[in-house]
Amino acid sequence: MQSNSNPEKKYLEQALSVEAAKEAKGVVRWKSPSNIAIVKYWGKHGNQLPNNPSLSFTLDKAATTTSVNFEEKTSDGIKLEFRFDGKSNAAFGDKIVGFFKQILPFFPFLEGLQFSIDSSNSFPHSSGIASSASSMSALVMALLDIEKQLGGGYSNEQQFLQKASFFARLASGSAARSVFPQASLWGNTTALAEGSDYFAVDLSQKIHPVFKTYRDSILIISAGTKAVSSRAGHALMNNNPYAKARYAEAHANTSALMEVLQSGDLEQFIAITESEALQLHALMMCSQPSFILMQPKSLEAIAAVRSFRKESGVPLCFTLDAGPNLHLLYPDSATNQVRTFINEQLIHLCQDHQWIDDKVGAGPEKI
Ligand code: PMV
Repeated sequence: MQSNSNPEKKYLEQALSVEAAKEAKGVVRWKSPSNIAIVKYWGKHGNQLPNNPSLSFTLDKAATTTSVNFEEKTSDGIKLEFRFDGKSNAAFGDKIVGFFKQILPFFPFLEGLQFSIDSSNSFPHSSGIASSASSMSALVMALLDIEKQLGGGYSNEQQFLQKASFFARLASGSAARSVFPQASLWGNTTALAEGSDYFAVDLSQKIHPVFKTYRDSILIISAGTKAVSSRAGHALMNNNPYAKARYAEAHANTSALMEVLQSGDLEQFIAITESEALQLHALMMCSQPSFILMQPKSLEAIAAVRSFRKESGVPLCFTLDAGPNLHLLYPDSATNQVRTFINEQLIHLCQDHQWIDDKVGAGPEKI
């Protein structure tokens, strides 16, 4: 079987029955990071399948830690309680119940257990940082760890991570990329034979050393909730008049970026990264109905980044998620210069002077 064919059948065959939960009891704890896309995933079809390939850096500090206590139960159905920062959170708990029901054919043992889940994020409350990638990847890593403890076999670490990526994708598309260290690619592409729409793949062995220690300083321009969710944004791509051109651009940028990641050509890296960020927001502006997630201060910060780069020669660039906050990407060697630049020229644009000093990280960790 090719690695990029749909592994669903294989996972169904591996499913551990409810009997595996007999007398089970334990706790697993995983910390998993968020990621920042350089080539953006925007538009999907079918069961969380992307309309174009995307490529991201795995972050380090911006992470979710999730502890899952599990114990045998005899009643039917999914049973769990969920706490965020020590407080019960029914809305998120219901989301997890829905996810567990969706994946039940692959994990029948879930019905034989009751769960008590505690989760918290390392980044500040309401900082405007999307937590779905980190939270869903942490949950799935914990789930697969439980499966392993109950006798589910994986012949190697790579299979474990591929399966984690597959199920993280079902919970939140971009979460598929968070299970790998440093950099990851999700989606079919001519640039990488192993690329798959079903799971992301590890790029850490394919990137130039300069990117392994790349920095990401996240400027919190606004911490409020977004006016349009990413779920609604993806759906609006179905009628976007520029969709076809966008998917072609994303394919071309993925191929170009794969070369740049190997060569370490920072000038090209900057060109691709900023173009992708602005394309994402341009797509929002020409959706029907249109919407704008950037704010005046996002544009002020972009202008400042571009003039700083021109004047100083520091290879600093920006990207944006589906929101107003800027991610400043730069090599580790430029840290002091960029820190001074943030303090002197950007911090007044940040809500409550908030920014997060992050960098490329090593991926999920069992703790
Ligand atoms: O994973 P979702 O459905 O929240 O979509 C994420 C979309 C972007 O963050 C805008 C881009 C990306 O590739 O992460």
